[in-house]
Amino acid sequence: MFALKSAHGASDAERLSELLAQARALLDGERDPVANAANIASLVFHTLPDLNWAGFYWMKGGELVLGPFQGKPACVRIAVGRGVCGTAVKERRTIVVPDVNAFPGHIACDSASRSELVVPVKLGPRRNSPPSDLVGGGGDDRVIGVLDLDSPSLDRFDDEHARALERLVADFVTATDLES
Ligand code: SME
Repeated sequence: MFALKSAHGASDAERLSELLAQARALLDGERDPVANAANIASLVFHTLPDLNWAGFYWMKGGELVLGPFQGKPACVRIAVGRGVCGTAVKERRTIVVPDVNAFPGHIACDSASRSELVVPVKLGPRRNSPPSDLVGGGGDDRVIGVLDLDSPSLDRFDDEHARALERLVADFVTATDLES
């Protein structure tokens, strides 16, 4: 059984470091994409306080489709370029939104959300391709989805959260059999 460590009274920096360590333990020896995404969503939701939603959307048929998450039922499909999630895919970068009401086109799945952090999931180096492509180095930088965190508090996420969650997503990609 996996025991979630209590981070009661800890700082967010300590929680983020604990989150990364626990994620590596959870991902170790398991490559199934649904199992790993579901456990990462749960780990994030239960490790960081003051979240009302944490989970994945996956690119399918040219749009984002809801994946494993924790929180209230959410919008199922999001077009690339729409909302915070679709913008993170279009611009291929992490987006921190201190106040969702100030983000043009924000999609309100849960009216409790006040701030948001979205990290694109990039496939990264392809394990089976030879490093012979002089331009891409054999890598595959495709965005295949996003990890989305929502908080009921304004300004919940900063650069430190963004960098730690990017590390978490990179660890998830390395540990998981994802479509290529
Ligand atoms: N707020 C997101 C939509 C997804 S939910 O927050 C779960 C957006 O603007 O893309």
